[in-house]
Amino acid sequence: MNLMIVGGGGREHALLEQLRKNPRVDRIYALPGNGGMAAHAECVPIRATDIDGIVAFASEHAIDFAVIGPDDPLIAGVCDRLRAANIRCFGPSKAAAAIEGSKSFAKNLMRKYGIPTADYAVFDSAADAYAYLAAANYPVVIKADGPALGKGVVIANTREEALLAVRAMMEEGAFGSSGSRVVVEEYLTGVEASVLALTDGTTLIPLISALDHKRALDGDLGLNTGGMGALAPNPYYTTELARACMELIYLPTMRAMNAEGKPFSGCLFFGLMLTQHGPKVIEYNCRFGDPETQAVLPLLETDLLESMLAVEDGRLAEVPVRFRAGSACCVVLASEGYPGAYQTGFEISLGDATRAKNVFVYHAGTKQEQGRLVTSGGRVLGITAVGANARGAQRAAYAAAGQIHFMHAVCRRDIGERAILWAERGE
Ligand code: AMP
Ligand code: GLY
Repeated sequence: MNLMIVGGGGREHALLEQLRKNPRVDRIYALPGNGGMAAHAECVPIRATDIDGIVAFASEHAIDFAVIGPDDPLIAGVCDRLRAANIRCFGPSKAAAAIEGSKSFAKNLMRKYGIPTADYAVFDSAADAYAYLAAANYPVVIKADGPALGKGVVIANTREEALLAVRAMMEEGAFGSSGSRVVVEEYLTGVEASVLALTDGTTLIPLISALDHKRALDGDLGLNTGGMGALAPNPYYTTELARACMELIYLPTMRAMNAEGKPFSGCLFFGLMLTQHGPKVIEYNCRFGDPETQAVLPLLETDLLESMLAVEDGRLAEVPVRFRAGSACCVVLASEGYPGAYQTGFEISLGDATRAKNVFVYHAGTKQEQGRLVTSGGRVLGITAVGANARGAQRAAYAAAGQIHFMHAVCRRDIGERAILWAERGE
């Protein structure tokens, strides 16, 4: 089989490492891939947002199965286009990808079908939003309706902050058309959990849970990033919670999408807040999470490609999905300055990190340049270690990360720490 992976981040590298284990695979192309993926895939300089380019490449290179990593091409309908060209793929239709592409669609779906989420109101006019904010309780959360490169969420502690956020989104076009509609949400407190689930619209199989670390600095301070590390499973996400989420959130979401005539096929990501009043959905994503995937997939025991093919064929129920015991911790090495401005082009020395057993070095912002591996992005590498327990995995991940060097490398020193301490105290 010829595979194509669309995307070039740590998530896609982690997908590649699982997919290439399948003995039926002949060739793998990555569009555009990265400096690490190049070891096992042919990297092709086509951007993940170039839908025409992706479809043309797949048709010309006899691609048997395409796996789409990022949200943008899914929201733009790349899977519809591929299927129309008789190319099988893993990912939702454009209609179903609206569950991530439009926050108002997702919120209205949850309200209509009784799926627990934060209270909210939707506004198409800035004047109406201002009037609402004059009488709101603070903090509130302001969200641009459409995709905004992970920057469309503002937690406003005061009315002034809320008004500024609405003005930027609705009147100053900070996120283009994505901000012409905003959702104003109740602020929830609790701990967060990420759950990725495979679904073909009939069967839904949650993968092991994960804990993301979105803020740039230790102690959850600093700016929001694409994710600075992850721990799987998430210590806060108990078996009881998993059972409750399946009944109250996951299956109802799958059925709601069917009832709306938008059956979801692919990986459905549930961003959860575990509140005092039970688990609530903060957001849906229509794809694998990053960096969660880099902590979840190394624990997968069964064959990912067979599961993905089964999703596309609507026979997910027939294929077992199993995880091994233990934990995985992913520490992201980033370029100093990220998520703001940073420099690239520094040579990377991986040392012995890649030789350690149970350590996986996933590339994100790297590229090969004249035989050298150099930095090319904000998040450069995700270093994942698997261990018998969360503490063991965390220590091994930091030990491996410590062997890797490039100029101006930074990482959080506390990935998993608070959750691990919480779990240790509870025992
Ligand atoms: P994202 O949508 O990935 O940019 O994430 C925004 C982040 O904002 C989430 O991971 C939460 O930490 C936070 N967040 C979003 N919605 C809420 C809410 N209703 N209450 C509290 N925090 C929220
Ligand atoms: N880690 C959250 C996301 O992938 O959007």
